[in-house]
Amino acid sequence: MASSSLFLQFLVPLLLPLLSITPSYAQSHRDISLGTSLISTLGQNTSWLSPSGEFAFGFHPLETDRSLFLLAIWFEKIAQKTVVWYANGGKPVQYGSMVELTADGQLLLKDHNGQELWNAGKNASYAAMLDTGNFVLVGTHASVVWQSFDTPTDTILPSQVLHPGTELHARLTATNYSSGRFELRFEDDGNLVLYTVAVPSGNQYDPYWTSDTIGNGSQLVFNESGRIYLAEKNGSISNFTSGSIGPMEDFYQRATLDFDGVFRQYVYPRKGMRSGSWNDDWTSVDAKPTDICQAIAAKTGSGACGYNSYCTIDERQHVDCECPPSYSFFDPNRTYKGCMPDFAAQSCDADAKEIESLYGFKEMIGLDWPLSDYEQLYPIEEDQCRKECLSDCFCVAATYNINDRNCSKMKAPLSNGKKGSYIHTKSLIKVPRSTQSPPPIPTVVIKDKNSWTGIRSLLLGGSALINILLIAAVLLLAFYSYKKRIYSLQPNSSETGTGLRSFTYRELQEATNNFSEQLDYGGLGGAYKGCLRDEASTFVAVKRVGDLLPDSEVEFINLIKAIGQASHKNLVRLLGFCNEGTERFLVYEFLSTGPLKSFLFRSIRLKWNQRVQVALGIARGLLYLHEECGTQIIHCDIQPRNILLDDNFVAKISNFELGKLLREDQARVTMAVRGTVGYIAPEWFQNMGITAKVDVYSFGVTLLEIICCRKVLEPVLENDEAARLTDWVNICYRNGRLDMVVGGDEEVRFDMGRVERFVAVALWCVQEEPSLRPTMWKVTQMLDGAATVPVPPDPSSYISSIQ
Ligand SMILES: *[C@@H]1O[C@H](CO)[C@@H](O)[C@H](O)[C@H]1NC(C)=O
Ligand SMILES: *[C@@H]1O[C@H](CO)[C@@H](O)[C@H](O)[C@H]1NC(C)=O
Ligand SMILES: *[C@@H]1O[C@H](CO)[C@@H](O)[C@H](O)[C@H]1NC(C)=O
Ligand SMILES: *[C@@H]1O[C@H](CO)[C@@H](O)[C@H](O)[C@H]1NC(C)=O
Ligand SMILES: *[C@@H]1O[C@H](CO)[C@@H](O)[C@H](O)[C@H]1NC(C)=O
Ligand SMILES: *[C@@H]1O[C@H](CO)[C@@H](O)[C@H](O)[C@H]1NC(C)=O
Ligand SMILES: *[C@@H]1O[C@H](CO)[C@@H](O)[C@H](O)[C@H]1NC(C)=O
Ligand SMILES: *[C@@H]1O[C@H](CO)[C@@H](O)[C@H](O)[C@H]1NC(C)=O
Ligand SMILES: *[C@@H]1O[C@H](CO)[C@@H](O)[C@H](O)[C@H]1NC(C)=O
Repeated sequence: MASSSLFLQFLVPLLLPLLSITPSYAQSHRDISLGTSLISTLGQNTSWLSPSGEFAFGFHPLETDRSLFLLAIWFEKIAQKTVVWYANGGKPVQYGSMVELTADGQLLLKDHNGQELWNAGKNASYAAMLDTGNFVLVGTHASVVWQSFDTPTDTILPSQVLHPGTELHARLTATNYSSGRFELRFEDDGNLVLYTVAVPSGNQYDPYWTSDTIGNGSQLVFNESGRIYLAEKNGSISNFTSGSIGPMEDFYQRATLDFDGVFRQYVYPRKGMRSGSWNDDWTSVDAKPTDICQAIAAKTGSGACGYNSYCTIDERQHVDCECPPSYSFFDPNRTYKGCMPDFAAQSCDADAKEIESLYGFKEMIGLDWPLSDYEQLYPIEEDQCRKECLSDCFCVAATYNINDRNCSKMKAPLSNGKKGSYIHTKSLIKVPRSTQSPPPIPTVVIKDKNSWTGIRSLLLGGSALINILLIAAVLLLAFYSYKKRIYSLQPNSSETGTGLRSFTYRELQEATNNFSEQLDYGGLGGAYKGCLRDEASTFVAVKRVGDLLPDSEVEFINLIKAIGQASHKNLVRLLGFCNEGTERFLVYEFLSTGPLKSFLFRSIRLKWNQRVQVALGIARGLLYLHEECGTQIIHCDIQPRNILLDDNFVAKISNFELGKLLREDQARVTMAVRGTVGYIAPEWFQNMGITAKVDVYSFGVTLLEIICCRKVLEPVLENDEAARLTDWVNICYRNGRLDMVVGGDEEVRFDMGRVERFVAVALWCVQEEPSLRPTMWKVTQMLDGAATVPVPPDPSSYISSIQ
């Protein structure tokens, strides 16, 4: 850009008023000579002014902390001192820092210790703050060696021209100047595009506005007339904004990509204009896009307002992020970071009647979460819609459209929320009935002493009639359970021949000392430690399956048989079962070390090489279930809670009761969604039928958790984009920043080659399209290093490309 014609562009308007054509103009417009410097203080001499005094270059104290300074250009004559450009990526410097135009013609920013932070230009002869708001370094032969107009931050000014390859970055917040969540790119191909971007990696998500001028755009011009237009190569012009409000001499102007993602053109009345309709403030005269709440609707990224929140916009283009009832801001100071529920998530093991007493709905009209639905039901009545959502633990909200009677069930986290009169659905947000979190699910076991005390206190408190009724009820219940016991003690012939021991309820009751010691990894139904009365006094884990799931009795027995026959180093051994009436238990070998989740997410962590072995172990165990044992078994709930560790930290897959057998004649099976939010493969929500690839997906998520030692869904205070681990790792991988994924873990840092391989494998596993996911055989090959790992596609790319 260092051409003399450009030089003339800014020089000529300056010279005209001087009526001088002598080359000594330099003297007349306050040029800054070599060796001059500014120090950041709150006193005088902290800026260099333009000849008119309208713009200043120098140290601008931060609004939020006046001991910090931004090296910036601002409107000097406006009370707000609005910043239009800043150096050093928006990172402020401390008191006592210095900017210097060095003797060798560089512009240098040094911190208070004299360390260089930022520099611009080389071989400048002098510098000047121009009346356009452009700060220039001028070299020999009057060539421009550097100018702030060539490196815009978030704002452009009249007379500024952008060329393909330039970007504007929104700030993070109104007062934090570091790079934020939006970007305006004038692409090299001539297209002008607004993107949402990840913070802090800078990864670009989908565009939310484009000029559609691929191959044709050549310049973005902010004309002094107040018009911002795109000049095309063939000479035609199209408006970007058309904020024409009258004679522009009366206004200061700027156009800024604001931190909320809206590119706004602003005017501010100059002195003498401040009367009538014009406030003493910046007024937005045009904006792109006109409604950002509607414009942003991407499958990835947290949208305009973050997860679990919704976006609203008023007629004055003011964008607001809000939380649904019973949700609150993750960070009240940064509302765009989304919201969190104030209550614990609905447990999937409560029974339907209890759920109705624990949860209800709050209604909001005109609110929708367009990309969070996993199931649509239509046409149904609203009552039915509520029931459907209430009884489904994956459903956190539903939307109901009265006109076409559509009911959409939404899963967590809710994304792309928007509210406005243009939305014709009603949102039903699932919240606990009381403001407290729901009480723990009571286990109704009459034999339990505590419940007797409960009943007794009821008896003492009630009237005589009620007491009689209660006693009768208790007696009936006791009689019923006695009868059931008698019935179910009959040997069950269909269960012989499984290679497993069939336990009676009483045996398990004795072994577990009346279910006294609960293990923390039981999951649905709970698990108890027990000791068998055999010679070896074998310790066991007794897991209550209750009447949960398996679709039918026969299927359950078949699953048990298949697992009973399965035998592999990386599977927890199933020793037996109990199947008495409604009492169903599985008896597993007991592993004292506990579940993997206790060694990943807390302060005690497995070492990296142990984690590597665990990952390989899980992969081999799954490979065995999928391909090497008699019947293909789909586990359906692979996650760190269901991986147990033995004394040598060998991983063993456990909790098969949710599993599913895939017969040889079946390509896929359809079944109700099982598993755990965060680990569930997307096809499960699409009623397409599932294959063993659902386990591959869950394995991929688990592998990422093993690498990063953090949970898949977890709000992260410092980093919006990290909330969903799969998205975050994908972003870091694509930007070559896996160092951000492993954090300060030294052992891992010495093994980045393996980390990269494991991450690539995991990203293959979490592809949204099941057919793109590798088989577990391929996964083990790639993890072992026996097969090369191609670069994985973006996990959602295939799906979005066919939509
Ligand atoms: C500001 O700079 C001018 C000229 O460089 C100098 O004369 C004056 O003393 C300085 N003022 C302060 C407060 O440093
Ligand atoms: C700056 O000047 C030096 C000496 O005059 C020259 O060698 C160098 O190439 C120049 N640098 C630039 C960037 O023009
Ligand atoms: C701006 O936000 C970033 C990211 O959260 C943070 O690191 C930085 O300290 C903030 N800057 C200021 C001046 O608060
Ligand atoms: C770009 O211009 C060419 C011809 O000048 C035209 O054929 C093409 O459609 C234009 N592209 C767009 C996106 O307008
Ligand atoms: C740019 O501004 C000048 C001066 O205000 C005006 O004469 C000219 O028509 C404008 N050009 C465009 C393309 O709007
Ligand atoms: C220039 O190209 C655009 C398409 O990019 C077209 O709409 C317009 O009519 C063309 N203008 C001229 C003057 O050819
Ligand atoms: C573009 O903006 C100018 C004024 O800024 C206006 O006169 C013209 O009509 C606008 N063109 C279109 C197509 O909107
Ligand atoms: C929000 O900002 C206030 C004032 O700056 C501060 O005291 C408070 O700690 C902040 N809250 C959070 C959650 O960061
Ligand atoms: C309601 O559901 C039907 C069937 O899926 C669909 O065609 C229709 O577009 C839906 N209506 C709305 C408003 O989503």
